[in-house]
Amino acid sequence: MSNPDKHVPPKRDPDARFGTRAVHAGWEPDDRTGAIMPPVYLTSTFVQDGPGQPRGGYEYTRTQNPTRFALQDALADVEGGAAAFTFASGMAAIHTLLLTLKQGDLIVSGNDLYGGTHRLFNRIEERFGIQVLYVDTSDPAVLADLPADTRLLYVETPSNPLLALTSLEQAVAGARKVGAEVAVDNTFASPALQRPIEFGADYVIHSTTKYIGGHSDVVGGAIVVRDEARIDELWFHQNASGTANSPFDAFLTLRGLRTLEVRMERHCANASALAEFLVEHPGVGRVLYPGLPDHPGHEIARHQMDGFGGMLAFEVPGGVPQATALVKDVRIFQLAESLGGVESLIELPAPMTHASVPEEERLAKGIADGLVRLSVGIENFEDLRDDLERALDQ
Ligand SMILES: Cc1ncc(COP(=O)(O)O)c(C=O)c1O
Repeated sequence: MSNPDKHVPPKRDPDARFGTRAVHAGWEPDDRTGAIMPPVYLTSTFVQDGPGQPRGGYEYTRTQNPTRFALQDALADVEGGAAAFTFASGMAAIHTLLLTLKQGDLIVSGNDLYGGTHRLFNRIEERFGIQVLYVDTSDPAVLADLPADTRLLYVETPSNPLLALTSLEQAVAGARKVGAEVAVDNTFASPALQRPIEFGADYVIHSTTKYIGGHSDVVGGAIVVRDEARIDELWFHQNASGTANSPFDAFLTLRGLRTLEVRMERHCANASALAEFLVEHPGVGRVLYPGLPDHPGHEIARHQMDGFGGMLAFEVPGGVPQATALVKDVRIFQLAESLGGVESLIELPAPMTHASVPEEERLAKGIADGLVRLSVGIENFEDLRDDLERALDQ
């Protein structure tokens, strides 16, 4: 089996700004045809000139595929990592990262995180003897005093669904003190707004299903590694566990990445204006958006993000019945799980994305029954505002 060292990624331009890198990263026009985007190499296997002598350096698509490599190289470039690995879903990415742990290892995780990650930690990883301790990583005192045997600090910032901010600098400093590594789920921010490796994080996780894919037409995930020394191990687990994404999904995801910056600009502008509108609306309780000056993580967001993102959450006082009526009354916002696509989505974390979190735990975290989460799309702001206003007034 050839190893990934034989693959030479295209040269990066360290001076290029984010939008330029996102457009060009990972691929140079094909020598033979001039193709400006990578062909979708829909092939399961590759010819060898002799046993163990693959003609083009590729053997089998689970192991290496040129379309996947283009996406992987592009993601490594835009996140500023040594390499990236892409997967069939965000969960497959997280699962594959956890394959690098061993029985008895301790994960210290933020306590506000995607419900599916919580389920993976509690119902699968714990069965294999990996321990998980949930803490409030938005609290600097907690980060400064991590358990001495922490192996991996796992952070989502901004978190899902409460949009809590964790300081990346403090997370990395706290983890270093106890010799732990740091993984940051960067799905909500996307690399256009936040690049955790610049703050010293060891791994960046993405559900590329969300902003990177950006069009709600492909499911995928990624791990970006900071340190070259981690490449072989991750590559081994991607290949050995068979969790990689398909060439076609890699192509769609790379196509999404090309326009990430302009989409994020619109997501941020729309979400920010909607947050201000909701704060003023008498039918709305607390509004959670990192761009609001009274958001507890506002200063951290200003420091480590290049924008406040397209996600926001708010509470309606009437709990589930009123929240349910609201999500049924909106017309442009679509009632659906997921986020980060061009279209605006609305959902209720309690019965939907976070249904797998036990009720008591969910309420203790502050995920109220009447919490409504918006993934604000790139439609015209006035239409989104009018849609919410009409539904709220009803
Ligand atoms: C923050 C976050 N991480 C990971 C995931 C899992 O990604 P996927 O659905 O692509 O498996 C999600 C999915 O919603 C998410 O919101």
